[in-house]
Amino acid sequence: MNTTLTIEINKTNASKLTQTDFEDLKFGQTISDHMFVADYENGEWGDFRIEPYAPLQLNPANATLHYGQSVFEGMKAYKNEAGETLVFRADANQKRLNESAKRMCIPEVPEHIFMDGLLQLLEIDKDWIPNKPGCSLYIRPFVFATDDYLGIRPSEKYKFMIFTCPVGNYYSKPVSVKVECQYTRATEGGTGFAKAAGNYAGSLYPALQAQKQGYDQLLWTDGKSHQHIEESGTMNVMFMVNDTLITAPTSTGTILKGITRDSVLTLAKEMGVKVEERFLRVTELEDALRSGTLAEAFGTGTAATIAHIAKIHINGNDYELPQKDETAFSNKVLAMLDGIKYGKIEDKHNWIIKV
Ligand code: COI
Repeated sequence: MNTTLTIEINKTNASKLTQTDFEDLKFGQTISDHMFVADYENGEWGDFRIEPYAPLQLNPANATLHYGQSVFEGMKAYKNEAGETLVFRADANQKRLNESAKRMCIPEVPEHIFMDGLLQLLEIDKDWIPNKPGCSLYIRPFVFATDDYLGIRPSEKYKFMIFTCPVGNYYSKPVSVKVECQYTRATEGGTGFAKAAGNYAGSLYPALQAQKQGYDQLLWTDGKSHQHIEESGTMNVMFMVNDTLITAPTSTGTILKGITRDSVLTLAKEMGVKVEERFLRVTELEDALRSGTLAEAFGTGTAATIAHIAKIHINGNDYELPQKDETAFSNKVLAMLDGIKYGKIEDKHNWIIKV
């Protein structure tokens, strides 16, 4: 590890490590011992520190609480057989954080601050990385406004923080999804591409209605016509229709530029799979479900990894998808991705950073 940022380090003397059950990790419930913090004031980032994970003190007039100026990222670290720490595509997450930040009028986090803060935090909390197939250390970098001011304008002060959680699967079983044609997640010119807190807040009510009807998640459609599939609430989505892998393009600015999405598309092309980045029409999806030409559907995301979709609800009808068998593309690509992440398969794309 070669880091140059001067970070003040204050380690906990009350580690929670020994009280943590690594055999039963639920997503996002267990937080590791430390967090990285940086403050933005007078136009620059400073006061870099790693300190024990602890609650923050916020003024009730904090701008984020009222106007939601907040963006975040999700990425993962793994252990290889030699016990070394491997981080997957952190450079891509750093770039995406700044694309989100720019849209939300939040100052960008320079690469060296993001990477050095991350790598030093991972070094300190490396014992929190699970050593078990399917498990990893989920990393949550985020930036939010810290001005105490009720007027509408971009905040002048911000915090950039990173904390981590040992996690197992986000979805422990195949998911059922409902195609959403009433509510809108994102429209062109909006903030859909950004990993902004408010995008998730706005999706909760429609998703809850679907959950009350027994579905795990929504399949969002475009905000204008509701005729094209965009993404799910927790992941991008892909469909194998006959032998073609179809996923929505990110060019409309309404879809999160998933890093797992990009990785899967890269590997699919290398595997010789025909890939189409285009909108799948709802009617086309329905036809493929009816005729049996939809071979598989799955979500892709850092938290979700590759999540098999078992059921799709469209316009009042439930369609069951084929059981996922070992030859399914999603299984093969998951095995390949895991192989790279855990250091078992050659990392031809320089996706892995060894800490
Ligand atoms: C991620 O995949 O990292 C996300 O932020 C999605 C969320 C469901 C945890």
